[in-house]
Amino acid sequence: MTRVLVTGAGGQVGAATVAAFEAAGHHDVRGVARAQLDIADRDAVEQVVGELLPDAIVNCAALTDVDRCEREPDLAFAVNASGPRHLAVAAKRIGAHVVHVSTDYVFDGTAGRPYDEWDAVNPISVYGRSKLGGELEVARHAGSWTIARTAWVFGRAGHDFIRLVFQAATEPDRGIRFVDDQTGSPTYAPDLAAVLVRLAVERREGIFHVANAGYCTRYQQAREVLEAAGLDPSIARPTTTVALDRPAPRPPFTALEQVALRHCGLPTLRHYREALAEYVSSAGVRI
Ligand SMILES: NC(=O)c1ccc[n+]([C@@H]2O[C@H](COP(=O)([O-])OP(=O)(O)OC[C@H]3O[C@@H](n4cnc5c(N)ncnc54)[C@H](OP(=O)(O)O)[C@@H]3O)[C@@H](O)[C@H]2O)c1
Repeated sequence: MTRVLVTGAGGQVGAATVAAFEAAGHHDVRGVARAQLDIADRDAVEQVVGELLPDAIVNCAALTDVDRCEREPDLAFAVNASGPRHLAVAAKRIGAHVVHVSTDYVFDGTAGRPYDEWDAVNPISVYGRSKLGGELEVARHAGSWTIARTAWVFGRAGHDFIRLVFQAATEPDRGIRFVDDQTGSPTYAPDLAAVLVRLAVERREGIFHVANAGYCTRYQQAREVLEAAGLDPSIARPTTTVALDRPAPRPPFTALEQVALRHCGLPTLRHYREALAEYVSSAGVRI
């Protein structure tokens, strides 16, 4: 029996992680959403961790709105960097293992090939810098830790990129466009969550890339979603990052290779297209 604290449980990855621990059985899992635990509040972190005394903490809490991070850098660093520091310090005090979820946005996206766990980081946005700060805090302060970098998460009906695609399908005249010059690794939240469970329970140390195999642009992914749903893929229209003119810069190519999982004898994630087909055909996905 492993007692687990999952932070950010109200989010996409946090909810999937709580569900994965419950499905795995034999675990005492406590998911806390932001209203129950603000990870930027050091005293609150100390109190919750001290009361629950978990064997493992899986940190899924983060400020994930990349443009908001650019506008509110102090908040971004408070949540994405100092929050993980508070969790890591509290975890070390009680001997708990920390699994910290991080992002492909720690890379600048200029390598022109998928990134492995040993590639140099060089974030280009406040979100990326603050998430890298979280990685450094966990590595410095936790006694036992895993950093699990993921990317382009989907898999929560109504709350993800897939919803945006279906919205485009219901309002084709609005012409929602998808960028064709940002490439990444779409990742199915339940596939990610199943690996997070193993990393936590087995107290696996180090940095792991946990993203479904394969990569595409957002435009290509939108077409694939529409095709999988039996809809006309031409509803999706291409655009460019420059044309969208968002506050935060985006790295152009951040596909992740799952080398550490393979080298450590853990299962790698299947191709994203297989997961996408499964998700799109599952009940309750359409809006
Ligand atoms: N989604 C992606 O495509 C993606 C890609 C790469 C990496 N990641 C990483 O995956 C992790 C999980 O992200 P996600 O996709 O599940 O995003 P999400 O759906 O936005 O979930 C993040 C959760 O964190 C909560 N939160 C925000 N500030 C908090 C605070 N101060 N204390 C406690 N909780 C707080 C949010 O609550 P509120 O909604 O109430 O603010 C939200 O429920 C993050 O570390 C993210 O960086 C995600």
